Amino acid sequence: MSIPNPEMNGPMAAPEERVWESPEVQSPVSPVFDELTRQRTKEIVAKYPQSRSALLPLLHLVQSVEGHVSQDGIRYCAEALELTTAEVSAVATFYTMYKRTPCGEHLVSVCTNTLCAVLGGDDIYDRLRTKLGVGHEGTAGEPGTPGSITLEHAECLAACDLAPVLQVNYEFYDNQSVESAEKLVDALQRGEKPHPTRGAPLTDLRTVSLELAGIFTDLDATVEGASGAVETMRGAALASDRGWVAPPMPDTPPPFPSLPEKK
Ligand code: FES
Repeated sequence: MSIPNPEMNGPMAAPEERVWESPEVQSPVSPVFDELTRQRTKEIVAKYPQSRSALLPLLHLVQSVEGHVSQDGIRYCAEALELTTAEVSAVATFYTMYKRTPCGEHLVSVCTNTLCAVLGGDDIYDRLRTKLGVGHEGTAGEPGTPGSITLEHAECLAACDLAPVLQVNYEFYDNQSVESAEKLVDALQRGEKPHPTRGAPLTDLRTVSLELAGIFTDLDATVEGASGAVETMRGAALASDRGWVAPPMPDTPPPFPSLPEKK
């Protein structure tokens, strides 16, 4: 059976390219997706009542195998979930965590949102950009090889109380300076893995992508370390010391205010 592939419906597509085989009969799209990956795919899909709900973890799985999400990866997800490649592409290009070009061993994300920016995030990003000789989403070194680094500037990483912050493979390095960020990148390039300020030990982007897919090879290590920071918990600690509690919820919720009449 052949069904139309919406992705191939552009005016430039040759007529013979406008069909693709159904998921039941299509051969494997890439040898990269081996038996283990296919087994993991089944495990992920089985967690959801509707297979299409597995798309986000499946894209992370693909990224753990390829180091990014290639067009083969898009097709692989589409086949596994019986979606069109256009539907999968729409999701993969919407979320910044899915990378469309090959990445380094590590992904360094520098927060350049307002608070981090004014406290030094912009300077950190500029220094690392110059040092690594790449811009946003550029990779210094051969992608995937030890010590290779993909740099990106990121929006608020939800750690404003610890600004300026950066992440390596989504693990936090708090209260950074230009100098400390540069030393961190030096260490990564030497093959070292400095422990994040909080949270689990540093691994690499592919391992983290596998974990984001919901597959843990060492769960204990993954959850090791406190993820909260003293600064973050200060308000809760003060409230606790002073015996402050939130007012109780009323038995009967107050009525909603009436809406102004439409004119
Ligand atoms: S502005 Fe950088 S973590 Fe919020």
